[in-house]
Amino acid sequence: MQDRLEAVKAQVQAALDRAIGALPAGELRDAMAYACAGGKRIRAFLVMESARLHGVPDDAALPVAAAVEALHAYSLVHDDLPAMDDDDLRRGQPTVHVKWSEATAILAGDALQSLAFGLLADPAVGDPAARVRLVAAFAQAVGGAGMVWGQALDIAAETAAAPLTLDQITQLQGGKTGALIRFAAIAGPLIADADTAPLAAYADALGLAFQIADDILDVTGNEDVTGKRVGKDVAAGKATFVSLLGLDGARAEAARLVDAGDAALAPYGEDAGNLRQLARFVIERDT
Ligand code: IPE
Ligand code: IPE
Ligand code: MG
Ligand code: MG
Ligand code: MG
Repeated sequence: MQDRLEAVKAQVQAALDRAIGALPAGELRDAMAYACAGGKRIRAFLVMESARLHGVPDDAALPVAAAVEALHAYSLVHDDLPAMDDDDLRRGQPTVHVKWSEATAILAGDALQSLAFGLLADPAVGDPAARVRLVAAFAQAVGGAGMVWGQALDIAAETAAAPLTLDQITQLQGGKTGALIRFAAIAGPLIADADTAPLAAYADALGLAFQIADDILDVTGNEDVTGKRVGKDVAAGKATFVSLLGLDGARAEAARLVDAGDAALAPYGEDAGNLRQLARFVIERDT
């Protein structure tokens, strides 16, 4: 899996460089490129592997992987803004609004979102019907019923009168982190017009495990390794899996979810080995 992940990282970085490099030179373009640099590229990996499992060539899947990482980068730039989580460190570097300005961070996020939709329309991805399927699913995943909705619930929870229940946190996570991860994992069958159900079930388990790991790292992580500030969730009074389940409970739940993800991949048999390893990597990571 690690070799494939390294290859995907290089491919997706080149695709993002090409797309951003085609924009007019200036601060906006610089900020967009900066925001897209680094990262574990887990979502890109999901796209490339789900494509491979459905016979979709890497060249066709690559613009989709780049789109997902561009959208993710936008979500992080906005997530770090003073009005949101007010963070000054991301991927080991100053956040975009610290390096430039809030206005540039807002605009770079806006333009990265547009760039992402444009990448999905790339003819290299497939026939027009396949691209429309992707655009429709992506819009659903990242907007007011998906990622942005989850972010809104997350912000609202900071000032809620009562702590969220486990069901409410799970719902919040399903939007904030889960929806984009799910899209990435079903991109292959969407392009191939195949059944998305097995990979959607895998992604739902993975997405939840991923956010649990993120919440654990906020408590136990080391800033030099995570590349972002830790201890922010407690300080902001955020509802997280750790605040509700405790550290041990959260770890046990993440391990249970990895098993659930394994089970969901049964239809792919041995071919899904990389995705099985990814789920383990996601809960064992220290970054
Ligand atoms: C962090 O995502 C934000 C969340 C959705 C919790 P990642 O941990 O995937 O961030 P990068 O892309 O590797 O920096
Ligand atoms: C961010 O969640 C999720 C999105 C950007 C959609 P967090 O606020 O928990 O992410 P980190 O911890 O800042 O990376
Ligand atoms: Mg946040
Ligand atoms: Mg944050
Ligand atoms: Mg977090």
